[in-house]
Amino acid sequence: MKKRLIAFTTMAALTAFGVYAQDAEDPFADAVETRHGLMLQMASDLGTLGGMAKGEAAYDKTAATKAAANVAAIASVISMAQFPAGSENGKSADSYALADVWAKQDDFLAKVADLNNAAAAMQTAAATDADAIKASMAQLGGACSACHKAYRQPES
Ligand code: HEC
Repeated sequence: MKKRLIAFTTMAALTAFGVYAQDAEDPFADAVETRHGLMLQMASDLGTLGGMAKGEAAYDKTAATKAAANVAAIASVISMAQFPAGSENGKSADSYALADVWAKQDDFLAKVADLNNAAAAMQTAAATDADAIKASMAQLGGACSACHKAYRQPES
């Protein structure tokens, strides 16, 4: 009984702050949150690989192959499904995706394909040694930054 009262009070407070209203007005909130989660996980895995490439961390085959497999799996998930039309920067809260994602969709998807290819190459490198990871880092990091340069509004 007490629990329910607390739940109700919390809900009333959230409603008062317009939390629910805001979500209802931004139909793209979930998609934006989903793509941010995918991107952040890739950044974390890239950090693991980068640490070994730079010699900051010892080469660990299990950790390296896991990180590379994660990036490959996430790359295979990225599609227009997380980028519904209308969810660009300025129109959807928290979105830094530029309108060109949709205006130049073929090129955007080609960059997704580049990411998949780079992630596949990194999987081979990750199973080899730190030098191979280092050599493969340019292609993978390059795939990230090529897309960001064209399609992501820099956070200022
Ligand atoms: C095909 C295009 C594309 C590729 C490839 C790509 N990204 Fe992104 N990334 C984006 C876009 C667009 C955004 C902005 C999304 C938004 O704010 O809605 C973004 C945002 C991010 C963010 C910010 C997330 C946040 O919470 O604001 C990080 C971190 C990130 N990407 C990491 C990576 C890493 C690491 C790679 C490579 C392993 C990568 N991205 C590859 C398009 C791409």
